[in-house]
Amino acid sequence: MTIQATTTEELFGGSQMSPIENPYSVYRRLRKEEPVCALAMMDQRVGYMLTRFDDVYIALKDDEVFSNRSNANGIGIVMGRTIVEMDGREHLRHRNIITPALAPRALRGDFPRLVEATAHELIDKFAGRGQADLVEEFTFIYPLQVFTQILGLDPEMAATFHRWAIDLSWVGRDPQRGLKASQLLAEHLQPVVAQRRAEPTDDLISRLVSAEVDGRGLADEEVVSFLRLLVMAGAETTYHLMGSALFGLMTHPEQLEEVRQDRSQLDAAIDETLRWESPVQIVTRETLQPTVLSGVEIPAGTELIVGVGSANRDESHFEDPDRFDLHRKGPEHIAFGFGKHYCAGSRLALLEARVGITTLLDRLPKLRLDPGQDAAVVGMAFRGPNRLPVLFDA
Ligand code: HEM
Repeated sequence: MTIQATTTEELFGGSQMSPIENPYSVYRRLRKEEPVCALAMMDQRVGYMLTRFDDVYIALKDDEVFSNRSNANGIGIVMGRTIVEMDGREHLRHRNIITPALAPRALRGDFPRLVEATAHELIDKFAGRGQADLVEEFTFIYPLQVFTQILGLDPEMAATFHRWAIDLSWVGRDPQRGLKASQLLAEHLQPVVAQRRAEPTDDLISRLVSAEVDGRGLADEEVVSFLRLLVMAGAETTYHLMGSALFGLMTHPEQLEEVRQDRSQLDAAIDETLRWESPVQIVTRETLQPTVLSGVEIPAGTELIVGVGSANRDESHFEDPDRFDLHRKGPEHIAFGFGKHYCAGSRLALLEARVGITTLLDRLPKLRLDPGQDAAVVGMAFRGPNRLPVLFDA
């Protein structure tokens, strides 16, 4: 098969100024015509993008062939060395230290109550007004406010952390901006890590500095790098999940009503959102050996963009995949990844999203999109609505 290399901008449109609005029609075409699509940057072939569920699944599952070291040249530049770029035994050792520290039951005190109190505090500021932009006033800030408390840091720092998290994610387009944020985060976190090592408390940083596997723990620098990763993961993902779940429900009022009447349906709605508008649309891998996917030969040392968001809309895997349906039965989505690098914060993210949306529905009667204003889900690396103007009964 001859392959014409294409840039992601040619494929999806979008630019630094205007985020990609709808990648799904392009994904559909690629799955059908070019499931392993060659990508180019400045006329150089830089790798391939995978869009079919079966290929994406193999790339996530088979870590003998598909390595995470691809992340060292991307987010690794601003994070430092973290588990997202590690393979094999090194990854397993770090993962075993980190995963228990992120389990909701390991987090400070009565964690669900802390999350709920944070949600109420934010909603108090606009509940009497009858209208709000839920992205600006709630979903954008809530996960990081929770997170700064888990870390044992001042919640007032949440907005600053968020700015740094966004700057970190700019590393591919503006490395200086990413590196500056990386440095500022390290300057802020290093003294806290040193202090918690000297006087541990019950917060996440104390758990990370004292955790050991096989008699070995993490050095201060490793903890700081991991915290940078967590700040970005904590800030950019749950925020998009909650925004898209609210968007999905408000654009399907009969499903919103069902959730209102029976809150046990909310988990199904959140799960369907993860498939329908996957907050993390792409991850990367590098081939360690030559391999073949969908009939295309891929040499060793090839960078791959692994289209998790496309896989979750693959018509050969999900029936009527563009439909948002909380009653959907059938195969599991892979929005949290799959295999050894499966999201370490998934339970935390689900708990935050469930508590946040429940509290919004409890506090804002007749919540609906403002018909006079636009709202849409946008973005490619991280995807979700960038505004959500709503009306409700005050
Ligand atoms: C809706 C929310 C979230 C989504 C959709 C999501 C998605 C993902 C995905 C797709 C991966 C796999 C990456 C790969 O295979 O290369 C991943 C890994 C990871 N996520 Fe999440 N994530 C979410 C929330 C969070 C939160 C809140 C945290 C932490 C506070 C977190 C921490 C991590 C970590 C540490 C990894 C790396 C795991 C490893 O490499 O072993 N995530 N996430």
